[in-house]
Amino acid sequence: MNHLLGTRELSREQAVELLDIAEDMAAVQEREVKKLPTLRGKTVVNLFFEDSTRTRISFEAAAKRLSADVINFSAKGSSVSKGESLKDTAQTLQAMGADGVVIRHPASGAPLTLATSGWIDAGVVNAGDGTHEHPTQALLDAFTMRRRLHGAASRGRGLDGARVLIVGDVLHSRVARSNAWLLPALGAEVELVAPPTLLPVDTRRWPVTTSYDLDEALGRRPDVVMMLRIQAERMHGAFFPNSREYARTWGLDDARFDALPDTTMVMHPGPMNRGLEIAARAADSPQSTVREQVANGVSVRMAALYLLLSGERGAAA
Ligand code: CP
Repeated sequence: MNHLLGTRELSREQAVELLDIAEDMAAVQEREVKKLPTLRGKTVVNLFFEDSTRTRISFEAAAKRLSADVINFSAKGSSVSKGESLKDTAQTLQAMGADGVVIRHPASGAPLTLATSGWIDAGVVNAGDGTHEHPTQALLDAFTMRRRLHGAASRGRGLDGARVLIVGDVLHSRVARSNAWLLPALGAEVELVAPPTLLPVDTRRWPVTTSYDLDEALGRRPDVVMMLRIQAERMHGAFFPNSREYARTWGLDDARFDALPDTTMVMHPGPMNRGLEIAARAADSPQSTVREQVANGVSVRMAALYLLLSGERGAAA
């Protein structure tokens, strides 16, 4: 594996391989083994040009649990605020001997530029670029679904026949895009339900179905309901729904949650707008996987860094 830039180019076999390695990483951690020596001597740089809690911390934990040295770079407080370009920032990292670069950037395509520009030799992992992709989030979502659906018999399996409903602000969601490619590759059926103004026009070319009525979609009894965050910060004064109206029409409120079968998985990538797209009762219920998703993120990111930096080949994106 040279880079992990998106899920669109991942085959089923590559995705299953990564999820199986994540199972190995989870098994090691469940045995309370604090560290593996796998990436001793390697340097991973976390290059974050946008805010993050879960992704940045879990990449740092993942790299450290594999014994890599970790350098955390945040654009805030760096020379980026003085106008330094991505190229000059990247070449500074190259001079520091980075083997892997985990990048989050507001511009869609920034990780691809970094991976293909020749500015650095390091492997690049996309930790979320603009509204484009967030591949490790989709992989940890798939890992969480596979574990809940198949338990100890997860290894080697996809998500065949699982019906996943993704709800809300698809337009601005790189999580939705990465899941829309990955989950069908693993055999799941994906439906996107959103207000027409928050559904991108190019979903016609995605391997998903789309609809515009949440109650009807929930009535089809999906196995998984994945709520998306309303991304007000990306709306730039354009359409921003009235919060109360949005919660009433598009939120997983108490009434909608209570009507779900108790086997329905409730997912959210975080951070959550409680009371807007998801009610506290749903977010904190046993059906919610929100905390599992965060915990599983470390195992999945350990698997990605292992494939990227250990010299193993097999998956590529
Ligand atoms: N899900 C996710 O990407 O969360 P952060 O923005 O906190 O990393």
